[in-house]
Amino acid sequence: MTLTMAVVRERLPGENRTALVPETAKKFAALGTKLRMEQSAGISSHFLDHDFPETTLVTGVAEAYAGATLILRVTPPSTAEIEAMPEGSVLIGLLKPYESKERLAALNAKKITAFALELLPRISRAQSMDALSSQGACAGYQCGLIAAARCTKFFPMLTTAAGTIRPARALVIGAGVAGLQAIATCKRLGAMVEAYDVRAAAREQIESLGAKFVDTGVSADGTGGYARELTAEEKAQQAEKLAKAVAAADVVITTAAIPGKKAPVIVTKDMVARMKYGAIIVDMAAESGGNCELTQPGEHVIANDVNIHGPLNLPSRMPTHASELYAKNLYNFLSPWIKDGQLAFDWTDEVLAGTVLCRDGATVHATVKQVLGES
Ligand code: NAI
Repeated sequence: MTLTMAVVRERLPGENRTALVPETAKKFAALGTKLRMEQSAGISSHFLDHDFPETTLVTGVAEAYAGATLILRVTPPSTAEIEAMPEGSVLIGLLKPYESKERLAALNAKKITAFALELLPRISRAQSMDALSSQGACAGYQCGLIAAARCTKFFPMLTTAAGTIRPARALVIGAGVAGLQAIATCKRLGAMVEAYDVRAAAREQIESLGAKFVDTGVSADGTGGYARELTAEEKAQQAEKLAKAVAAADVVITTAAIPGKKAPVIVTKDMVARMKYGAIIVDMAAESGGNCELTQPGEHVIANDVNIHGPLNLPSRMPTHASELYAKNLYNFLSPWIKDGQLAFDWTDEVLAGTVLCRDGATVHATVKQVLGES
């Protein structure tokens, strides 16, 4: 049976991205797959139906998913959407694997093979498939832009007839993919940038972008290239050393995260109280609880005249390029397993095995099972 891929319009409020773009539709079709797309699925990313001549346009989720063997998504499906998926079909997307036991149960009840791109092993071979990185780059860039737009100062140094303006001081906490992009964006706009991360390798990356590394003496490398949670003593040492840099900054951008866990609180209420009047915090970790104690997800709060922004779903603010990159990640992940219009997975492959969340009616990812208390 020929592989039939299906894509519907993303329905989560505020989600503007799409899982299929014209370039990848063409490439999937060239591999012999059939494509079914819900009408206007790409409209919020500014891809129009006529940009997808290879797809069969259909109306609604039920019609799109009927007979589908492979379903491409950006966000996790709702229960109703899972209901519409054929039993035994394959699903791929950013499925928020740690968020909902009910969703996993619904996927397993339909024996859906689900790949959660958040689980993709961070190995060199998988870089082209790495949706956390592509979307993290978009998010970090957006953080830099939000900070610059909301700052009451120029980012660059300015020499004018009226006198010289000193550049704004930006501090970026967490220098993973998003943090490094935030650093690069603030540098391009001319700010003086300092940055900090607990992973030892981050120092060189921060410095290679021309930013100054803030040394707290705390190093906390975990497994899989990620940071580990800090001990209480390490947190105290970090807070003491970071407080000075936070107090001196006009803009603080925070991006620190630990996979599967609530974001670490790094900027405390006390630190905010010692910040400059009119300073800005852009907390990219708002979605997972926030790196600032006062962050409210999705809100702008003011404390001590410090503006604290907790923006959500930042990649969706630049949906055209975010979708292009994301759709390419999906193509790079799937295309090695499509031969003559058929899907054939090799389950001994490290990337496939590391990314699969549900298979044959069960949740199979060890870390997810552990975090959800199912192992
Ligand atoms: P992430 O989104 O999980 O976390 C963001 C950053 O927060 C990380 O750099 C982490 O070290 C930092 N962090 C965590 N707790 C902190 C704390 N208490 N204080 C300060 N910073 C803290 O990370 P992301 O961006 O997803 O990258 C994770 C790792 O994966 C990095 O080592 C990155 O270089 C690596 N990577 C490897 C790739 C590959 O080879 N395919 C692709 C992309 C990333």
